[in-house]
Amino acid sequence: MAVREIEPILLELDRLEQLAESGYYNPYTMFDWPEAIEPDKPWMSESLTTLAGTPMWDELTREQQIALTRYEAINFFSLNIHGIRELLSEVVLRIHERTYANVSEFLHHFIGEENEHMWFFAQFCLRYGGKLYPAQPSLQADSVAHLSPVAREMIIFARILIFEEIVDYYNSHMATDQALPDIAREINRIHHQDESRHVAFGRMVFTSLLGQVAKRDPGELPAVAEYLENYLQYSIGTLYNPAAYRDAGIPDALALRRRALEHPARVAAHDQVLKRTRNFLAKSGVSRDLIK
Ligand SMILES: [Fe+2]
Ligand SMILES: [Fe+2]
Repeated sequence: MAVREIEPILLELDRLEQLAESGYYNPYTMFDWPEAIEPDKPWMSESLTTLAGTPMWDELTREQQIALTRYEAINFFSLNIHGIRELLSEVVLRIHERTYANVSEFLHHFIGEENEHMWFFAQFCLRYGGKLYPAQPSLQADSVAHLSPVAREMIIFARILIFEEIVDYYNSHMATDQALPDIAREINRIHHQDESRHVAFGRMVFTSLLGQVAKRDPGELPAVAEYLENYLQYSIGTLYNPAAYRDAGIPDALALRRRALEHPARVAAHDQVLKRTRNFLAKSGVSRDLIK
């Protein structure tokens, strides 16, 4: 059975389209890019680094701590760039398919905005960090390859939504962190503004596709729930980049990554980051309780 048309909530879709139009800005002129960033300022909120709350953070010199905020900011923005490129290629393929006829107007805004996000994230990385980190290996989808076309379609939009929600947790916090340099705070703030629309839209598309899956064969839902839970964990893992530890001058990067990922303070921090998304998935009917 083909994937049927997305049925958006029309009032909500109208509202999102209007906001995209009225909030439209020129990304190429709106930021003030300083020549250099003040040497003592963190580029990422200290409480959001991957060692926050652990003795491993306390063991660093102040210089290493600041370096870690910088390289983890470059890693976070690099993850954004790679994530955007992936989601753009999926959305571009679908924009004029029948399934998306009802939402293609918003998808035009979405594509335009994401291209701009990719631009300002890359500007930051290249100007101040001199590089992007390469894309990390993506999560295999073998476990869901046997599912129906509509379930696989839904998973593509779920991945986009999960990516955007996790990023937004970080953006919304850093949007108001006065310890950050203005340019870092501004990028996070502007991105958070656009992403609040994308998340609302993504939830709508996801819910509509999930409705089709549940109606067709609810027996597919446990495999979907398991894949999405793995995707949440995978996404958290990408924030712990050994290359960033090495660049910050911290030895034993791989062992440090393992220790940090398992540390109870970090496990609690991950639950905090993922709480909103897990609650939404559970409410939608793909709770991780379904996993056998
Ligand atoms: Fe974005
Ligand atoms: Fe987005």
